[in-house]
Order: sequence, then structure tokens, then C-alpha cells
Amino acid sequence: MNEHVRHANTVPLISKERIEERVRALALEIRQVYAAEPPVVVAVLKGSFVFVADLLRALGLDCSLEFISVGSYVGAKSSGAVEIKLDVSSDIEGREVLVVEDIVDSGLTLDHIVGLLQAKRPKRIMVATLLFKASAFRGAVKPQFIGFEVGPEFVVGYGLDLDGRYRWLPDIHVASEVEARGSPADK
Ligand code: XMP
Ligand code: MG
Repeated sequence: MNEHVRHANTVPLISKERIEERVRALALEIRQVYAAEPPVVVAVLKGSFVFVADLLRALGLDCSLEFISVGSYVGAKSSGAVEIKLDVSSDIEGREVLVVEDIVDSGLTLDHIVGLLQAKRPKRIMVATLLFKASAFRGAVKPQFIGFEVGPEFVVGYGLDLDGRYRWLPDIHVASEVEARGSPADK
């Protein structure tokens, strides 16, 4: 992976070429499901902004796009609290909805998001996530579309951050153990 960006505190895990190939395959899968009725795509900010941009273009469906933002981790540890910071701006009642996540870890954030959207009475909610931490998952809603299953390590790049850093990395990397332990403020 010599040609890929290296960073002192990260180790490359999934190359941008593998991501590109997998996003194309996922888009084909998703297209079959929504051929009759394009969904409202609800991207979960901030981490999914790179994935949703690639996925939407690969999908080639006339989807509309909404953003939702909920509170998330400080450092690499979960604070447990999930507050809504930005809600969808259009009416999704009776609509097909595709939630797009960067990563589903314990699945608790996703449960919360799906609960919030369900209250708006859409026709159906499906979930696409680029990354799925199978070993950590204990949620009620399992994503129907999964890009890659990853281990328990904290990952960054391709939109995913560690305290706001590394979102720009074109590949997905594992954050170093020392840094992923987070700042003293998390503990
Ligand atoms: P849960 O545990 O609720 O976590 O499924 C979901 C949110 O936590 C963040 N998260 C990560 N972010 N690398 C990241 O950059 C990771 O390895 C990671 N694990 C969890 C992310 O915001 C996700 O939506
Ligand atoms: Mg997220």
C-alpha cells in the first residue's frame, strides 16, 4: 500500500480502491430494491458525508437527500448520550427512506435514529452502512446493506474522524491504540 497515504498515528486497513469497488457493488444491490420508487436518502452527519456522496452517484436513482445529526462519541469512547442536533427538513410520511451511516458499532445510535424517523410514519426504513462492527453490535435494527465488517478497533478516514481529525484520508485506517484511548476528558 505504498501509494496510499500513511499517517504516523494510523495504520491502513481498507484501501480507496477496495472502498470504490464495494460502494459500486452495494449501489447495484440497493438499486434493485428501489427500482420502483426512489427513496429519501437520510445521511447521518458528519461521518457519512463522503460515503453518501459516492453512494448517491453510484446509485443513479432520482433520490432526494436529507441530513440528520445526532450527538456521538467524544474521543473513541461512547458517552452513552444521544441528542438530536439536526432533523430532516422535508416530510417523509409515506416515503421509502434509506438511512446512510458511516459505521454501526453498538447499534444504539442507529436504534435512536430509526426511532426518531419511524415517528414520522415513513412507508419503510432501510439502512446502509459502510462499516459494521459485528462483535460490538447489540442493537435492535440491523443494517440491510453493509459495506465491510470490521473488528473492534477504532477506525478513521473516508469521512470518519477521531476528535475531528482524519476525515480527509482517502483510505480507511485503524487509529493507533494510544490515540484511540481518547483524551482525559472522556474518562
Ligand atoms: P454506536 O455504538 O451507537 O456508535 O453504534 C455509532 C457512532 O459512533 C461513532 N463510531 C466511530 N467513529 N470510528 C469512528 O470514526 C469508529 O471506529 C467508530 N465507532 C463508532 C460513529 O459516529 C457512529 O455513528
Ligand atoms: Mg456516525
